[in-house]
Amino acid sequence: MERAVISTWKLLLLLTLTASALFSSSSALKEGQTCVSNSNCGAGLHCETCMANGNVRPRCTRIQPLNPISQVKGLPFNRYSWLMTHNSYSLTEVKSATGAIILSPRNQQDSVTDQLNNGVRGLMLDMYDYENGIWLCHSFGGRCYNYTAFQPAINVLKEVQAFLEANPSEIVTIIIEDYVTSPKGLTKVFDAAGLRKFWFPVSRMPKNGGNWPTVDDMIQKNQRLLVFTSKSAKEAAEGIAYQWRYMVENQYGDGGMQAGLCPNRGESPPMNATTRSLVLMNYFPDRPDLTQACKYNSAPLMSMAKTCYAAAGKRWPNFIAVDFYKRSDGGGAPQATDMANGQLICGCESIKYCKENMTHGVCELPKAGGTTPSPAARETSSSPCPAFGISGDRHGKAHLLMVITVLLILL
Ligand SMILES: *[C@@H]1O[C@H](CO)[C@@H](O)[C@H](O)[C@H]1NC(C)=O
Ligand SMILES: *[C@@H]1O[C@H](CO)[C@@H](O)[C@H](O)[C@H]1NC(C)=O
Ligand SMILES: *[C@@H]1O[C@H](CO)[C@@H](O)[C@H](O)[C@H]1NC(C)=O
Repeated sequence: MERAVISTWKLLLLLTLTASALFSSSSALKEGQTCVSNSNCGAGLHCETCMANGNVRPRCTRIQPLNPISQVKGLPFNRYSWLMTHNSYSLTEVKSATGAIILSPRNQQDSVTDQLNNGVRGLMLDMYDYENGIWLCHSFGGRCYNYTAFQPAINVLKEVQAFLEANPSEIVTIIIEDYVTSPKGLTKVFDAAGLRKFWFPVSRMPKNGGNWPTVDDMIQKNQRLLVFTSKSAKEAAEGIAYQWRYMVENQYGDGGMQAGLCPNRGESPPMNATTRSLVLMNYFPDRPDLTQACKYNSAPLMSMAKTCYAAAGKRWPNFIAVDFYKRSDGGGAPQATDMANGQLICGCESIKYCKENMTHGVCELPKAGGTTPSPAARETSSSPCPAFGISGDRHGKAHLLMVITVLLILL
């Protein structure tokens, strides 16, 4: 008994020392380096493993895409790609605001405010009439129950309002799976959340596959909120754009995860319908799975983006919608978004190679050791220790040693 207590203390001390050694290291860890906790990793990264891919070494992985408008401004809205969260409100840790235990599956880990601050620019929200208001609910049969109800929609819409207010050059898109039948229900809740002033009018949306206004123009006019509904009649009645009049969308769920195929979802025109200028790509299974998400959101997601590009008549997705957007085994959804932006904006493998006024597809890659490798080659060669995937600097090695020491002591 006493021995157990002593060794527990010893262990705690060692863990604390290790953690503090890591924490106090001169600089925050970079992508791919071995970590102990999120606080070890630099900005836009967090610390995780991907057991589903057999990857047990905790390392810093990306949770933020590069801002689509950071390299090249002034292109039409449809020349950018935006990271989108599926069921953005369906969070792992929350209880229903009704007090009931929620039986619906969960799709995301952090709040909509955190999602927006991490670079998510598209939200998929399911809205229902419930308890004399509009609620975010993940339900069935078009009805909301206390065990499928998350919270009143106005709470999350106010988070969006605060974000748009605080970030005057950001544009956010909301896609509503719409079960609201109360008269002007959506109009009322968006107005009550203070979002009317950011509304992008339907009259300015291109009807025949033309270009959208430029992002500069949208920012300058403060028309920075795009809202789409799944109910066609609301376009005429309330000025809320009917989603599939403006975009094509592939099948969601398991049906959208078969490698090499990118069929449209039932409500959408065919993927190659160029009369719609936006392309939305879904990539998540029927049953959200926190442990598998790191696997789905990595190489298979990149691969599906290429498949959907081909299916959509050589058009890269403008929206990339995933579950658990922070989970990945490598670059994840942020990297897929960077890739789509690179292709859309400047014809390069990643937005990081795009420059203002450059010729489309003439990608100037950073020099490395006198040679000019392709972006893919460069990604790999920046890790001289590929077996462990760690960067070769002293810190990386020291951290790995420490983690191994701790693991040995644990065993
Ligand atoms: C949820 O609704 C059911 C009836 O549909 C009711 O019996 C139950 O008490 C409610 N739970 C809460 C926590 O409100
Ligand atoms: C679009 O794809 C369908 C198959 O899904 C094909 O039959 C049709 O010819 C394509 N249209 C264009 C314009 O490429
Ligand atoms: C890009 O081109 C525009 C118009 O020719 C010019 O005004 C601008 O300064 C250029 N920007 C850069 C970074 O070269």
